[in-house]
Amino acid sequence: MKSVIGLFTGGLIIAAAFGSCKHDPPFDPTQHSVTDNCDPDTVYFVNDILPLIVSNCAKSGCHDGSGEEEANELTSYETIINSDYVDAYNANHSDMIEAVTSGGGEDKMPPSPNQPLTSAQIDLLKTWINQGAHNNECSGGCDTTAVSYSTTIVNTMSNYCNGCHSGGSPSGGIDLTTYAGVADIAGDGRLMGSIQHNAGYVAMPDNAALMPECKIDEIRIWVENGFPND
Ligand code: HEC
Repeated sequence: MKSVIGLFTGGLIIAAAFGSCKHDPPFDPTQHSVTDNCDPDTVYFVNDILPLIVSNCAKSGCHDGSGEEEANELTSYETIINSDYVDAYNANHSDMIEAVTSGGGEDKMPPSPNQPLTSAQIDLLKTWINQGAHNNECSGGCDTTAVSYSTTIVNTMSNYCNGCHSGGSPSGGIDLTTYAGVADIAGDGRLMGSIQHNAGYVAMPDNAALMPECKIDEIRIWVENGFPND
């Protein structure tokens, strides 16, 4: 009798799994594509989306794979897709978009006192989802010849770091929204040590993989040039 019930429940689970499959048109979560030829109208997961999600959602104790939110880890493509917060090709049906736009309600993400996402960041998420929520990466466009604080570094800090390193109580007491804050960790070696995941430093971005090589190279060049406020 037990085994009959077991079979029956198993069948239901399989039926439910197929029935609830929302990924239509065809969606292959294992496909990671890298292009040199970057399209300005395409939003790239590795370049644009992962850093945004990690720095705003995967802070310690949040969607970082530990504690209460373990089941809802958001630190990699796989965990983001498995979370079921993303309905590929359909931003309007994606819980992730609902969570970041729910007008300050109780379930609004990220919860206060964290900064809400900007409308530009929400648009990036929506476009990525509506373009199919692919695991895509743009490897071109790496220009290390014209690195400056006001363009290159400010952008990288904003995309990869400031979700945690900003506000009233920035992570580690380090505010990376100002030149003074970035110069401080550039000068004492912690900036390069942490982003290269060197021994003796806490690896950054926290809970995430190394940044793309180009981003690390750009920062290295700026630091080697004496981290000018240019
Ligand atoms: C998800 C949140 C998060 C993100 C994103 C993040 N950090 Fe951190 N960072 C932390 C936390 C938390 C600490 C404190 C860690 C500790 O003391 O154990 C920290 C500490 C640091 C430290 C001190 C490390 C040391 O060894 O003393 C540096 C430097 C740093 N972060 C730089 C960065 C840079 C640069 C970025 C972006 C490339 C970044 N962080 C992105 C959360 C984050």
